[in-house]
Amino acid sequence: MTHPFFEGIAPVRYEGPDSDSPLAYRHYNPDEIVMGKRMEDHLRFAVAYWHSFAWEGGDPFGGQTFERPWYPQDQMKMAQVKADCAFDMFDILGQPYFCWHDADIRPEGADFAESHARFESIIDIFEQKMATRPVKLLWGTANMFGHRRWMAGASTNPDPDVFAYAAATVKMCMDATHRLGGENYVLWGGREGYETLLNTDLTAELDHMGRFLNMVVEYKHKIGFKGTILVEPKPQEPSKHQYDYDVATCYGFLQKYGLEQEVKLNIEQGHAILAGHSFEHELALAASLGVLGSIDMNRNDYQSGWDTDQFPNNVPEVALAYYHILKAGGFTTGGTNFDAKLRRQSLDAHDLIAGHVGAMDICARGLKAAAAMIEDGGLEDALAERYAGWSTPEAQALLDSDFDSIFARVHAGKIVPQPRSGRQEQLENYVNWFV
Ligand code: GLC
Ligand code: MN
Repeated sequence: MTHPFFEGIAPVRYEGPDSDSPLAYRHYNPDEIVMGKRMEDHLRFAVAYWHSFAWEGGDPFGGQTFERPWYPQDQMKMAQVKADCAFDMFDILGQPYFCWHDADIRPEGADFAESHARFESIIDIFEQKMATRPVKLLWGTANMFGHRRWMAGASTNPDPDVFAYAAATVKMCMDATHRLGGENYVLWGGREGYETLLNTDLTAELDHMGRFLNMVVEYKHKIGFKGTILVEPKPQEPSKHQYDYDVATCYGFLQKYGLEQEVKLNIEQGHAILAGHSFEHELALAASLGVLGSIDMNRNDYQSGWDTDQFPNNVPEVALAYYHILKAGGFTTGGTNFDAKLRRQSLDAHDLIAGHVGAMDICARGLKAAAAMIEDGGLEDALAERYAGWSTPEAQALLDSDFDSIFARVHAGKIVPQPRSGRQEQLENYVNWFV
């Protein structure tokens, strides 16, 4: 322990479901083999630097509630204390990855060059700390939504100077991600959208965003970054309308700008719900389109209707998410990032650990349930049976046929549809047997 903040909290260990310790893993057992692979290698958990260390507990009606030894965060010496405490927490949790934005880890400088120098000196500290521990970087990203310069967007800003500042910022963050051996680079466009169409040239903004993402990909290849470039969909908040609305919208955008082979998606549970979908819808669609990259496993409060970024706590939902991930072959460079923050009354170091421990256990239970469903094969069998009609040569021939010949056969009474049960309740019961 380099700092007393987490004093008295021992490294969290797997103790099994019967443990009576408040801070033990009951289900997350990194070495346990699930479908032929270690649990840790399936789940690939990451801690998000921003919510755990940079966010101070504010909400739209009130400011900071937390007190942390690294506040005030506008000082470089505090950024160092923050890094010390962050890595202390990584040592306690033993999760394999973490993620950051530039703005989480360093205070803003007076100009770009000073912000850059501050950022690099924290990346140096990360590099030293990572050299002596197993923790790795799942992804880096740029915060291009917090500072007032981004209020009208980053790559979609009407001001070309802001486009340029965004390009310089992303270059800096990609360089650091590459240097730390990051496995992905993420772009989330909180301000890449609009407040009103009355002042927005939608066509120009989308073209600029498409060109910007192409520049990201060009730069990735130029520096030899082998990680995956990920875009994170979200429909709105903070912008009234965000261009990366959901998986389907992002895919259309990637295709239009020739990027569907280069870029994948980082899909967040809470964002899926805000878009009017389920998490498994977004995952299944991304898998089907070949762009399933990584996940942010944080939920919203179903009553509040906004992005509350809470730790997951619903095993059946999480199980269905991992079911689709496992069906798609599991993560490659992606992982499970907890883009989750404490509630603002959860003031203590203990709360930070408890939030992550619970989340990791929930995901482990979900993963085990998903693997059990896959190994049992009940859902796959039901699916195969439901679509069995399509396996006959006559059915396949329909797809090569045309409306006139199909019409003739239907009209002659040679094809008469017979309604069949979809068995939804039975399948819902089936899922429940495993969770
Ligand atoms: C912001 C978003 C979050 C996203 C992250 C990185 O913090 O709120 O959802 O994952 O940026 O792009
Ligand atoms: Mn997210």
